Formats: sequence, C-alpha cells, structure tokens
Amino acid sequence: MNAYCEARPVLFQPTERADISRLLTCEGEEQQALFQAARAARQAAGMDAVKLRGVIELSNYCQKTCDYCAIRPQNKEMIRYRMDVDTILAITAEIVAEGITTVFLQSGQDPKSDAMVLEAIRRIRQADVNVLLNLGEKSRATYARYVEAGADSYILKFETSDPVLYQNIVGTPLAKRLECARWIQDVGMKLGTGNIIGLPGQTLDTLVDDILLAQELQPDFVSSSPFIPNENTPLEHLGVGDLQLTLNSIAICRLLFPHALIPAVSALEKIKKGGQLMGLNAGANVLTINFTPKDFRDKYAIYSKERFVVSLDHAHATIAAAGLRPRQVANPVEVVSSYN
Ligand code: 5AD
Repeated sequence: MNAYCEARPVLFQPTERADISRLLTCEGEEQQALFQAARAARQAAGMDAVKLRGVIELSNYCQKTCDYCAIRPQNKEMIRYRMDVDTILAITAEIVAEGITTVFLQSGQDPKSDAMVLEAIRRIRQADVNVLLNLGEKSRATYARYVEAGADSYILKFETSDPVLYQNIVGTPLAKRLECARWIQDVGMKLGTGNIIGLPGQTLDTLVDDILLAQELQPDFVSSSPFIPNENTPLEHLGVGDLQLTLNSIAICRLLFPHALIPAVSALEKIKKGGQLMGLNAGANVLTINFTPKDFRDKYAIYSKERFVVSLDHAHATIAAAGLRPRQVANPVEVVSSYN
C-alpha cells in the first residue's frame, strides 16, 4: 500500500496532478483503499441511493463524424431512423410505469429532430418526471428552448481534454464543445460531462487533464466510459479501453465530486461481465435502463452492434449485489391516459 492511501485512508482529496496520476494507475490494496474512500465519500454525501434513468434513443441521424462512433454519417451500413412524438410518449409511459423519474432522451446530433423533441419534452413533462437530454451541440437559443419546454439537464461529454486529439478524432474544435457546455449551464440546465478512456494517442497525462477539465466545468453529473471499438468506424480495430483505469477515474471523480450523479455505463458491462457492479463499487450511483424498442435499438450502435443492453432486471440485480438501493418513487403513477 502506498503512503498516500495509508496517510489518508478515507475521504481524501486528490488535489494535485501527481495525486490524480498516481491514483489513476493504482492497483491491488491501494486500489481497494481508493474504492473504499470513494464509497465513503458517496455515503457521506447522501448519494448512496442509485438513480435509475430510462433512456429512449430517438434518432440515429448524426452530423458529427466521431471516429469511434458507428452512427457517424460516413457509415452507410447504418439504417437510419427518427422516432415520432407518439412513439416517444408510448415508451415514456413504460418508463414512468416502472417508477423511474428521469426520462433520458438521447440521439445523434440531428437538427431535424429539434422541433419534434421540443414537443416531446412538453408532453413528457405532463407526467411528473425529469427530462434529461443528450442530443449534441446546439445553438444557445435551442438549449434555451429545451429549458422552456421543461428539460432540466443535459449531457454533453467533452470526450477528451486534449484539443488536438479531440479535433483529430471528433473532427470539430474542443473549444466549440466547451462553449456549448457553458451555454447549457447558462440557460439553466444541469450539466453532465465526461471522457472516453482508451482513445488512440491518449496518455496518463491526458486523463489527469480530463479530470481537471471536469473540475473546471463543475458538472452535476460526470462519467468515464471505456472505449469500445465499433464496426464500420476508423477505430474498429483498436482494443477496448482499460477497465481498471476507468474504475479508478470513476473513484477519483467521486472523491472530487461527492454530490455528483456518476453512471456505471453500459460499456463497462460490455467489456466485462459484472463491470457495472464494479462501477458501483468504485463510487458510481446511476444506472441507465434502455427502453428503446428492439427494432430501433439494433440500429443505435454507438457501442458496437453487440452492445450490452441494460434491462430493468439487470439494473436491480446489480444494485442489490452492490448492497445498495434504487432511488425510486413509492407509487409509480399511471400516465398513459394523461397523454391523450
Ligand atoms: N466507445 C465509448 N464511448 C462511446 N460513445 C460513443 N461511442 C463510443 C465508443 N465507441 C460515447 C461518447 C458520447 C456518448 C453518447 O457515447 O462519449 O458522448
């Protein structure tokens, strides 16, 4: 065990670059001490109850050309879809019926769905649930319209803090992404952000910078996801991102953002059975359950064709295995009729 963990076994604060760097690569007993400290920080912050989100992947049209993602427009193998409002509301009713209070609308960066999304948000809000969005880079005015319609939070990951790497892999400037993140906060939404671990050219220093960038943004939610090689993309032949680095990054984020929502992303389960449980044990406290109907879901291949699709049963089993409880409403409301 290293002196750092011995000296401050619980609730320690890695504030220096060297501390973050060391914790990112720690192993064995030292790593267990890190995870334990992260769990203690989560408990002390009153954030142990696991938040469930229900995601609807409403469109796989995308303007962005990210090298890691199969819904990039260059992928001509991908059959494209865009849901209509009624489909989204029918799925929302399923989410709400399960007692899940956050409806998470996710899509490629698809300006043609903006108007439909606004209408969907307004109508989803007729049930007493939160609307979380992950729809990419928009104008400040568009973000403001989402808020007017009733959305309260937005995930826009910076993916990597290295501007050169970001430009090379994503094809647009990191500065633009960060400007959008600021707009999201300015218009009054909670911000979720985070990185991908395992991009080509990333170094340990880049990952330290990722954590420092997250600190600068002061997000409400933060995530680290392992890279998953995706068919029909320029990065399809790369290996998966490192599980231990990802878990350590999650734990460090918990120490730095004790009150944040931190997901154990499905990509963790994709690279290792039980990976999401490992994420909860490292300090995460969110699971996202996929409610996208199978026909659409199969076409939403951001995490490869055989991605791990999180079911309600899997989420509950994972939460129980972590010795935690879901954060859920006592009496799920019947909302189907309220949309008619
Ligand atoms: N591996 C890991 N994360 C990915 N994302 C998209 N494709 C991949 C991949 N191949 C993540 C990005 C994006 C979010 C919606 O999904 O971080 O912001």
